[in-house]
Amino acid sequence: MKKLILVTGGTGYIGSHTVVELIENGYDVVIVDNLSNSRIEVLDWIEQITGVRPKFENFNLCDTSLVENFCRKYPKLEAIIHFAALKAVGESVEIPIEYYFNNITSLLNLLSAMRDFNIPNIVFSSSCTVYGEPDKLPVTEDAQVKKATSPYGNTKQISEEILEDTLKAYSKLKAISLRYFNPIGAHKSALIGELPLGVPLNLVPFVTQTAGGIRQELKVFGDDYNTPDGSGIRDYINVVDLAKAHVVAIERLIQHKNLTNYEVFNLGTGKGTSVLEIIKTFEKVTGISVNYKIVTRRAGDIEKVWADTKKANEVLGWKASLSLEDTLLSAWNWEKHIRSIFK
Ligand code: NAD
Ligand code: WQD
Repeated sequence: MKKLILVTGGTGYIGSHTVVELIENGYDVVIVDNLSNSRIEVLDWIEQITGVRPKFENFNLCDTSLVENFCRKYPKLEAIIHFAALKAVGESVEIPIEYYFNNITSLLNLLSAMRDFNIPNIVFSSSCTVYGEPDKLPVTEDAQVKKATSPYGNTKQISEEILEDTLKAYSKLKAISLRYFNPIGAHKSALIGELPLGVPLNLVPFVTQTAGGIRQELKVFGDDYNTPDGSGIRDYINVVDLAKAHVVAIERLIQHKNLTNYEVFNLGTGKGTSVLEIIKTFEKVTGISVNYKIVTRRAGDIEKVWADTKKANEVLGWKASLSLEDTLLSAWNWEKHIRSIFK
């Protein structure tokens, strides 16, 4: 019988790509999402790619009794992949209570359900934001976790601590936290991708929307960093590579009964790319020039970060494989596809 995986936030950006990979690897999937930052049509799009429509439950994971009812309805859950969270850094500064409530309560409800309904495994979406501006590059998993610069970032740090403490107390439970660097791109079918509501905050959706004429001009936040071209450097990881890492993490949790019950992995390419390099590569692969202007630095931005991926490579046996060129082209194909649907 197929193993059943709960994917919270499964209609969202990274969640939807992971659902596709899970289905294609023979898993049965049930999504829980309250559609606060995603669309119900994603279920149709997943079905178009895989030929399978995942089960779907629309409710808020902060509601303890709804989480318990869900666990009674699906008593055979093998694992949870917990993507559901609010994720806008700037917004979290304006409405911190909502961010702490949503991101922490949902996790606590799921951990209680794991304990009470015998769900043994969880994969948690963490972030490179926990490192702040690292002292050493590439950044390894044992680098110091710096004081978070936003309530959003703090929810990830607190969540990791909650997981660690919970897993110490309940030896039957196992967890893996995956610290994503900067996920970009879309599925090669162009049927799923990132769907920012309103003005995008992240670089690549802003690039594709500017190229598509939806935004007049991309602002490059700073060219006076201590980097080769002066613009900020990040580790941009293809969302499909990232999704595949979740399948590997699930397999590790399910197959290896005697794991240390809490592990943390960086998920990146191991390579830093500057903002200006992203723009140039996008222009090269699409043949479209991006109208951009250098402006002052964005408050709170760090200068440079990229991942040490040795642990994920060696322990998980996972490595990012898709090129930046293919990734940016996939982001552009997705942009054109959604504009043809939502004119
Ligand atoms: P997303 O917003 O596209 O997906 C999150 C989904 O969770 C959305 O569909 C939303 O409707 C749902 N959701 C939020 N709160 C919920 C709740 N209380 N109950 C039920 N559903 C709820 O985000 P994403 O980019 O796919 O990110 C997934 C995870 O990865 C998040 O935890 C995010 O913090 C983390 N992460 C994202 C990035 C990134 O740059 N995208 C980087 C590092 C970490
Ligand atoms: C990338 C680079 C900007 C937009 C954020 C979160 C982080 C994590 C990933 C969840 C930076 C520059 C951007 C623009 C620009 N999310 N930029 N013009 O800031 O690295 O990380 O997403 O955990 O927590 O903070 O990503 O895509 O916003 O920025 O010049 O319009 O692009 O300054 O150098 P960031 P980003």
